[in-house]
Amino acid sequence: MAMRFMFVLFWLWLLFFSVSAELQRLEQSIKADGSLSFLVVGDWGRRGAYNQTEVAHQMGRIGDKLNIDFIVSTGDNFYEDGLRSVNDHAFDNSFTRVYTAKSLQKQWYSVLGNHDYRGNVKAQLSPTLGKLDSRWLCQRSFVLNTEIAEFFFVDTTPFVDKYFVGPKHHHYDWRGVLPRNEYLSNLLKDLDLGLRNSAANWKIVIGHHTIRSVGHHGDTKELVKQLLPVLEANNVDLYINGHDHCLEHISSTTSPIQFLTSGGGSKAWKGDFDSLEQGLKFYYDGQGFMSVQLTRTNANIAFFDIFGTILYNLDLSKGLHSAM
Ligand SMILES: *[C@@H]1O[C@H](CO)[C@@H](O)[C@H](O)[C@H]1NC(C)=O
Repeated sequence: MAMRFMFVLFWLWLLFFSVSAELQRLEQSIKADGSLSFLVVGDWGRRGAYNQTEVAHQMGRIGDKLNIDFIVSTGDNFYEDGLRSVNDHAFDNSFTRVYTAKSLQKQWYSVLGNHDYRGNVKAQLSPTLGKLDSRWLCQRSFVLNTEIAEFFFVDTTPFVDKYFVGPKHHHYDWRGVLPRNEYLSNLLKDLDLGLRNSAANWKIVIGHHTIRSVGHHGDTKELVKQLLPVLEANNVDLYINGHDHCLEHISSTTSPIQFLTSGGGSKAWKGDFDSLEQGLKFYYDGQGFMSVQLTRTNANIAFFDIFGTILYNLDLSKGLHSAM
């Protein structure tokens, strides 16, 4: 009898966790004046080369000026092939010894890019790295909750067909992602649920791959088809990504979403872009980064080049969420 009861409990437990593996939630406090500021950098880990060091230097300067609370990395953290192990010197040479400014000694929240998937993903996600440098935090998908905004970090690489059907000579580390359809449908379900239940005034989604972009890679068709409808249905304000090595703003023509690319952390200057995309507001294919200053009702977003010059500024405002 007891045995049978245990068995039933076990099945209920299994059912519960396979249907709803809720996204991990982290908390971040805001400033005493009710505001929040952070920097966004993507596509960076090249041991300081290709202006990575210059970008890092200006991030330090602007980070100090804005008194930033944290830093977001939009992925492709370590080139060319992620980290080999937790002992890979790339972690030190491309992260710890590059972003040395005082203002950058804050929590980093990172997602994985396609180049990270070419290495040992478990190493890059390992808490051991946080022991080597306490700023480091990288997860596949998670939620960062603050009093004025909620951030949803999404693992976008598994959405993209070509890494599965035509990986060329690259090896991708799909441990923890297979079976792929199940992984993606659970992720979309969890994201949809998290966004729907969010009472935050600003809903911000962060992933590595573009949804809309005029850059080298352009739109990511799998994300336009699968991720974008979830964002539109849940009144997401900003989608922030890397992947295209540029700085870019595209305004959605069908929803309030602003598409922001910050992928200028190191190698850039691809020189090709498709200017025909509707809603394009700003495009710069050199190196740089993005800053975001948020209050409950206002957002100021700026893009900087490697000299710390502001290239573009965007101001957004919105009324208070009815649930607040
Ligand atoms: C570094 O940045 C400068 C200024 O934008 C640019 O002229 C130069 O080509 C960049 N170097 C590399 C290697 O991308």
